[in-house]
Amino acid sequence: MRIIAFYSPKGGVGKTAAAVNMAYLASRENISTLLWDLDPQGAASFYLAGAEMIKGRKLSKLLEGTSPIARFIHENVYPELDFIPAHSSFRNFDIKLEQEEGHNALKDLLAPLSEDTSLVILDCPPTLSRLTEQVLEVADKVYVPLVPTWLSLNSWNQLREFVKDKKLGNKKLRPFFSMVDRRKNLHREILDQATELLGTSVIADVPYASVVERMGEEGLPLELLAPRSSAAVEYRKMWQHIQSDLGLGRKQSRR
Ligand SMILES: Nc1ncnc2c1ncn2[C@@H]1O[C@H](COP(=O)(O)OP(=O)(O)OP(=O)(O)O)[C@@H](O)[C@H]1O
Ligand SMILES: [Mg+2]
Repeated sequence: MRIIAFYSPKGGVGKTAAAVNMAYLASRENISTLLWDLDPQGAASFYLAGAEMIKGRKLSKLLEGTSPIARFIHENVYPELDFIPAHSSFRNFDIKLEQEEGHNALKDLLAPLSEDTSLVILDCPPTLSRLTEQVLEVADKVYVPLVPTWLSLNSWNQLREFVKDKKLGNKKLRPFFSMVDRRKNLHREILDQATELLGTSVIADVPYASVVERMGEEGLPLELLAPRSSAAVEYRKMWQHIQSDLGLGRKQSRR
């Protein structure tokens, strides 16, 4: 089982949109996938299948160990795609994790999934907390959306330093550009020098596109909503990079 996360300490930069689109693209290739929305605000539900259809459950029983993680999973939101929706009680995650200092509680929670799941995708909240620290530790790769501005580059460098300080694996972070507007000089300038500025290559340049915003209104992954859009092309490119990062093949179905 491979674990990836979509994370940035910045809010509203395209983590959830990418996480949902990657989860859908993975499932479409018969890779049994679980998307876990770790953000108490729970945006992934909107993008995936309409918020009112998928309600999350209170986390306390999972954290107390009295209810297995399987009970929290909505199976087959799409074929091969399972989903753990957010719940406002996910805020308590950090308190629990603080109490259990010294070991990775998130890792323990994920362990039982490995029989049925080939790929876990964690959609993170925009905070740097104990929870996100454990995400950074447990994930094989962490994909980081960056809007092409100097401030984002700054926060990218801070995140790299943090991962380095904590010895979480310096090749773990993988950046992609998000909400790219090529009419803006600054965006073009940063994109042109991306590898030098970021110290690593960028796996996709997702354009600013109203179809991505419409994912929330329609409750559909972009591949179903607008597969020919330039944003969908970039998301497919991102998925190919992720597949090669993880060495994930095509036929990993659980059925
Ligand atoms: N490429 C894009 N083009 C246009 N709008 C986008 C794009 N990506 C995301 N958005 C919109 O921007 C908003 C934030 O996107 P998203 O929820 O994916 O970001 P996030 O980083 O997960 O936010 P949060 O930090 O709140 O979890 C949403 O309204 C979404 O529809
Ligand atoms: Mg989000």
